[in-house]
Amino acid sequence: MAANKKRVAVLISGRGSNMTAILDAAKSPDYPAEIVLVLANKPDAKGLETAANLGIATQVVDHKDYKGNREAFDAQIHAHLEAHNIELVVLAGFMRILTPGFVGKWTDKMLNIHPSLLPSFKGLDTHERAIETGCRLAGCTVHFVRADMDSGPILCQAAVPVLDDDSPDSLAARILKAEHRIYPHAVALVAGDKVTVEGMRVRIDEGSDTKLCANSEAQLIF
Ligand code: GAR
Repeated sequence: MAANKKRVAVLISGRGSNMTAILDAAKSPDYPAEIVLVLANKPDAKGLETAANLGIATQVVDHKDYKGNREAFDAQIHAHLEAHNIELVVLAGFMRILTPGFVGKWTDKMLNIHPSLLPSFKGLDTHERAIETGCRLAGCTVHFVRADMDSGPILCQAAVPVLDDDSPDSLAARILKAEHRIYPHAVALVAGDKVTVEGMRVRIDEGSDTKLCANSEAQLIF
């Protein structure tokens, strides 16, 4: 199996809890992806330490060194991805907007997770906005990355309730638990060649372990 595993880079900006969830899943011999590189745009990103402790190669491309030259910043990231023969890029709390040129090089080979039920609440402060606008459901979305921010074909989503006494932090914590469940699964579907992108729609192949799984915490829709 190891020889067939897709070579994955995870891009982070901070804590890296989604990265850790994927790394945990990747410990299974059957997992179709191997995380070979963790790259951050901040030298103090906590997740770098976690990855390094597990013996995974890490890289920092500090956006502050590029003084607004986004093309050069993205080119440096691309160079690291190529140097590691990366086949799939996983954005996990990577808080920089990537240039259309870079995104175009990774069409259908780059995933992002966003803490809302897209296409609602693109951008920042998703939990505050879900509460303020009276949503009863909130959640997270894994999607293929396109040039427009938080757009792109949706691979899977998880929905959680918004409770009357929720604060942005309590809602974020509930959603984060769902993120940790769906992102490793989504990465496995793509790395295992189980999905086809048709325009804005993603088809998950018959026979893969696609499922709608409900429990008291979340509705997870694959
Ligand atoms: C996650 O909640 C992720 O959905 C969000 O940042 C957090 C990163 O947490 N991403 C975005 O807002 C991207 N638009 P983590 O570093 O612990 O995985």
